[in-house]
Amino acid sequence: MSESHLFYQTTSRRPRVARARGIYLWDTSGKRYIDASSGPMVSNIGHSNPRVLAAMKRQMDSATFAYRLHFENDAAEALATLTASLMPEGLDRIFFVSGGSECIESCLKLARQYAYVSGQASRWKVISLFPSYHGSTLGAAAITGMHQFVEPFRDMIREMPKIPAATCYLDRDELTPDECGLKYAAMLRDEIKHQGPESVLAFIMEPVGGASTGALVAPDSWYHEIQKICREYGVLLIADEVMTGAGRTGRFLATEHWNLRPDIIAMAKGFAAGYAPLGAMAADRDIVAAVMEHGGFAHGYTYAGNPLACAAGLAVLEELQEQGLIENAAVRGARLKSMLESLMDRYPFIGDVRGKGLLLAFELVADRETMAPLPAELNAHVKLVEEAYQRGLIIYSRRTRGGTIGDHFMVCPPLIVSDADLDEILELLIDSLDAFAQAAGLPIDAAGQT
Ligand SMILES: Cc1ncc(COP(=O)(O)O)c(C=O)c1O
Repeated sequence: MSESHLFYQTTSRRPRVARARGIYLWDTSGKRYIDASSGPMVSNIGHSNPRVLAAMKRQMDSATFAYRLHFENDAAEALATLTASLMPEGLDRIFFVSGGSECIESCLKLARQYAYVSGQASRWKVISLFPSYHGSTLGAAAITGMHQFVEPFRDMIREMPKIPAATCYLDRDELTPDECGLKYAAMLRDEIKHQGPESVLAFIMEPVGGASTGALVAPDSWYHEIQKICREYGVLLIADEVMTGAGRTGRFLATEHWNLRPDIIAMAKGFAAGYAPLGAMAADRDIVAAVMEHGGFAHGYTYAGNPLACAAGLAVLEELQEQGLIENAAVRGARLKSMLESLMDRYPFIGDVRGKGLLLAFELVADRETMAPLPAELNAHVKLVEEAYQRGLIIYSRRTRGGTIGDHFMVCPPLIVSDADLDEILELLIDSLDAFAQAAGLPIDAAGQT
């Protein structure tokens, strides 16, 4: 192969893709892969969906680009209407972007501009969680809690306050889940007080953790309490549903599981499910009204409301609804979770299985009692993924505890997955885990049921 001029985050390069259908991709040598992570938790309705391709072709035949300052377009209007109908009451103002990081930037800037025009200009701090991931732009880096993505840029950003994510599964203080949730939520109140409530603009969180924590779910009490605390201090609640939104957790929005009412919501990834670069911010109508009354939102992107992307997004949401894929995420997700839990019998080095719907992960540890991570130099997060990849199974991994230690693996197939697909995924995963354990010298309990 001739030298490539492309570069990415890492130096390793993969085979070239030839085609993709449903839950499968094939490389140019003809090898088939099961996309058991939906790429980076993106391809929620599977690959090459005929409805979406047809909608995109129809749109291409009429107009692929019409700049929003020159023309409105049907696709953007229809998608905004449908999206608004899926949001909590009053969150019916929609702003389109090209992806997750742009969406998070938009949320931060809308929140800030709202405070600026509504007599609360002293509010600018955005509290977030550690670990967390909110995107790659400098604004998103300021609120992201993952060392490797922040460290080189620290001097260039205005880093924002962080509180610990509710990692109750690591604690050994014998609190009930409810008590543990309240313990972590209290850290938000403490941080708001510490920063000075008049300076705190917003609290942003992923309702179910993404790649930074490996599908972390907090106890129910945490969600109810953080909503209460935000209201008490007039702090805006921003839900980063970039990964969780559009059905992945078994509800359209993950915040629905706890009846949360965020002020602003970010969606991307599954929103256009990989068919086009597209995301959407949904915002409270009063917030948007205040900003619009003062000259409009001082922020925007050339590709906002792009007709081709919006036609794709509209067809994706229609497919999700008409094929019952959100219910499928709940049902198949519950089965996949119990299948992953059953692996704990065979592999003593699986320390935890967690997540909601089809946003699921398992974490490897050296010791299940203490939850001590595997030695960092073992690079388990790379090695197991490689074993799986060789076997034609794609899973997604990251370091768990802030990006430097810990190894977790996301098993997040498209929402179209069937029971037979899940069986095949599990079989390949067991083969991969066996090979990984053998190479790493980790124990297998052969008598353990899987
Ligand atoms: C929760 C969350 N927020 C924001 C982003 C950034 O999205 P993008 O990579 O589309 O810019 C991601 C991407 O992984 C994410 O998982």
